[in-house]
Amino acid sequence: MASNAPLPVSAIDPYSPEYLADPYSFHEALREAGPAVWLSTYDVVLMARYAEVRAALEDPATFCSSRGVGLSDFAKEEPWRPPSIILEADPPLHTRSRAVLSDALSKVSIASLAPAFEARAEQLVGDLLERGSIDGIKDLAEAFPLSVFPDAVGVVEEGRENLLPYGDMAFNAFGPRNALFEKSFENAQMVAEWIATQCERQHLSDDGIGAAIYAHADRGDVSPAEAGLLVRSLLTAGLDTTIFSIGATLFCLAHHPDQWEKLKTEPRLARSAFTEVLRFLSPAQNFYRTTTCLYRGDGFEIPADTKVLLCLGAANRDPRHWDAPDHFDISRRATGHVGFGYGIHACVGQQIARLEGEAVIKALASRVATIELAGEPVRRINNTLYGYDSIPLRLT
Ligand code: HEM
Repeated sequence: MASNAPLPVSAIDPYSPEYLADPYSFHEALREAGPAVWLSTYDVVLMARYAEVRAALEDPATFCSSRGVGLSDFAKEEPWRPPSIILEADPPLHTRSRAVLSDALSKVSIASLAPAFEARAEQLVGDLLERGSIDGIKDLAEAFPLSVFPDAVGVVEEGRENLLPYGDMAFNAFGPRNALFEKSFENAQMVAEWIATQCERQHLSDDGIGAAIYAHADRGDVSPAEAGLLVRSLLTAGLDTTIFSIGATLFCLAHHPDQWEKLKTEPRLARSAFTEVLRFLSPAQNFYRTTTCLYRGDGFEIPADTKVLLCLGAANRDPRHWDAPDHFDISRRATGHVGFGYGIHACVGQQIARLEGEAVIKALASRVATIELAGEPVRRINNTLYGYDSIPLRLT
């Protein structure tokens, strides 16, 4: 393709019910259409190949986040809430916010959480094993993060039922104002107010990650209002993502008995198993960038001021980069996947996410002999997240 050849156009709508029900059946067509494709429905560009997605993630000066990482362009439309000062920010604001969250979520604080997380996973899996028949989502994928993450941040007990609806709103809001968006925003005001209140210092415990963020406000690294917004980032990004990833783990292990056997024989594969799940069934399927200037890629151009959808889920299965990409293999070296993003915005909570995912996998591998589907899994449909609402399982 000549450098100035027009981009191929695709009529695929990544928010149609068919696409959201099974995005993986559309990814190949999007990857094969070209390194970058105009989506006629939304007048945005989509990238689905690994090399292009990763190049965009590694070039935040050209592909900025401050105009929103969803479909909406903050330069043209009012955001639904005050933008995140980390996810929806560019340097230098992003650099400052990132330093604060990185410190609050540092290796030291994660290491101190590990014993409690592992003990909780062991206890929960032990209880579920006694029951035998469970819903993998409600009973484990939701129950586990809900019982460790809000405590780790320091959120009050009362009202925690608002946490999941808030995540659902936020991840739907990265897409268009479709029926999913409208439905998740039915109680938006009440839910958003509860979240905003819990992010205030006086409502947080004095020994959690939230308090560690406010300690930076005392040092003058951020203002108290900014500290509150950073706590909000954790409550937005830290729960649905881990729930969907643990759900995907259960789905993959129940669907691939050979991989379950491999894990049973080699429990040290827990880490690479979780990494492979994030590649194979990426919970966060899409994030956008906006071009700040003309972008010249390898044989194509994207004009300035263009919204660009980076299809992480498709990049993670691009045969140009991965051998047998549709094969789930827990001993694969899946590092380099973009399920946590890449570059300066790569998931700042990935250590805590891994701690949670690996704690569940280790507890399953050490206590459970067989894990089988006991009914049809039901998908949960969201504009950004890919995952399940229910996975009936039988554990022995
Ligand atoms: C398996 C679970 C998770 C997945 C799949 C995931 C995925 C992602 C992805 C793809 C990004 C990059 C977004 C972009 O480039 O625009 C990201 C960023 C982020 N994640 Fe996660 N995440 C997970 C868990 C968590 C947890 C547990 C937390 C909080 C403790 C968290 C907090 C954040 C924050 C604050 C950012 C913004 C970072 C920045 O802009 O510098 N995430 N995550």
